[in-house]
Amino acid sequence: MRDFQTVRGTRDLLPKEARRLRFIINKAIETAELYGYKEVITPVLESYELLNAKSGEEIRARMFKFDDLGGRPTVLRPEFTASIARLVTTSLKKPLPIRFFSVGTVYRYDEPQHGRYREFWQSNFELMGSSKPEADAEVILLTNRLMKAAGLRNYKFKLGHVGVLRAVLSQDGIDERTQNTILQRMDKEEYESALEIVRNDRCIDDTLHALFNLKEYYPLVSDPVGAVEEIKRIVKGYEKAEAAAENLAAILRLVTESGCEIKTTVNPAFARGLEYYTGMIFEVYIPGLNIALGGGGRYDKLIEVFGGEPTPAVGVAHGLDRIALAKKTQALQNLPTIIKPAHKKRVLIIPANQEAKVKALKIAELLREAKIRTEFEIMGRTIDKALKKAKHRKVDYAVIVGKPTLSEDWVVLQDLSDETNKEERVVNMSVSMLVEKLRSKK
Ligand code: HAM
Repeated sequence: MRDFQTVRGTRDLLPKEARRLRFIINKAIETAELYGYKEVITPVLESYELLNAKSGEEIRARMFKFDDLGGRPTVLRPEFTASIARLVTTSLKKPLPIRFFSVGTVYRYDEPQHGRYREFWQSNFELMGSSKPEADAEVILLTNRLMKAAGLRNYKFKLGHVGVLRAVLSQDGIDERTQNTILQRMDKEEYESALEIVRNDRCIDDTLHALFNLKEYYPLVSDPVGAVEEIKRIVKGYEKAEAAAENLAAILRLVTESGCEIKTTVNPAFARGLEYYTGMIFEVYIPGLNIALGGGGRYDKLIEVFGGEPTPAVGVAHGLDRIALAKKTQALQNLPTIIKPAHKKRVLIIPANQEAKVKALKIAELLREAKIRTEFEIMGRTIDKALKKAKHRKVDYAVIVGKPTLSEDWVVLQDLSDETNKEERVVNMSVSMLVEKLRSKK
């Protein structure tokens, strides 16, 4: 008899490891519920053309690709984002924003090593329809919550902005294809070779050089806000790059003021392998394990490339096997296997105005901490419009934050169901009363 092995880069998970992974899958599902992401299930098989369109060389070269028996080029999906963009473009007429969650295996012909497999699990979150920084902040915050719920400690977010880099390169006359190659090199941390391309293409680019140099200092110190200010200073005169840096500052402000104590570093020379990113990008790490536990960013052009209406979008995928490995690395014990279900009621938080955004975000996080399913109004709608939409979508409660007639710590809780009698439908209350009240509504 031959001694059969698993295919290289794939693994059998025995009960203990399967339980470990299942625990994290459940935490991802719970996170999706808490942030209002609906699950969609897409095929493992996709057409080669779809993934060829915009994934970038990094992924393209590492796909499991074959011709099916009908001769059609087919791949095992290397990620979810292209599939979700396809689904939204071709078969969905849904009001925006769309929040979609998926979990499953993906396939990449990576060189197998510690934490790097050819078949691995991702939980994937896509938020489509908003270009506002609160949408970017949301995917970072939900990633933070998943890492925390999985039981990890000391994890850190690395943030960057593709828009800054592309704007500098564009203004210096470097075409998109060459930009892609430069960003690929940067993703592999081959900075000298990236600069080499710039030098060959143009004269020496001081701005890019200065951005690269900044990485030597800033990731090491815990002053992400200062780092963004420094980026702004360096790219002065590059109009679009300045706007992109301002956008990164706005996202960072929301994240750091959300009350979640998220550890972040900003790296201006940070790029990611996937080609579709247009804005903020990020990854998560724990000390002692030099592989990303999750990564994502903004991709405002992908849906258009697939033939859909121009739709801004931002998303993230988490490497669930790696999170399991990180947990093991941190030697965390006591895996609770029974997951408490989240509350069934859904809440929408609406900031009454621009100034109320940070406070509203903090309250949203407080509610999620209390396991209450909470969505955030990220479309910049007026209160009336937001309420109308929420009612239409059968959201149970709306919380309006920052009404000028109310004192600092008070909010308006509005019951959107028709069952409650009219007088009790709109109530003013303090934030602590709000948490208690909503916690009691199963
Ligand atoms: P990605 O960075 O290619 O992003 O993958 C996300 C995560 O999958 C990584 O951070 C890592 O944890 C895990 N991962 C990647 N390769 C492997 C491997 N060979 N073995 C084990 N785990 C791995 C994406 O896939 C994008 N689709 C994320 C996204 C969603 N961007 C916008 N929306």
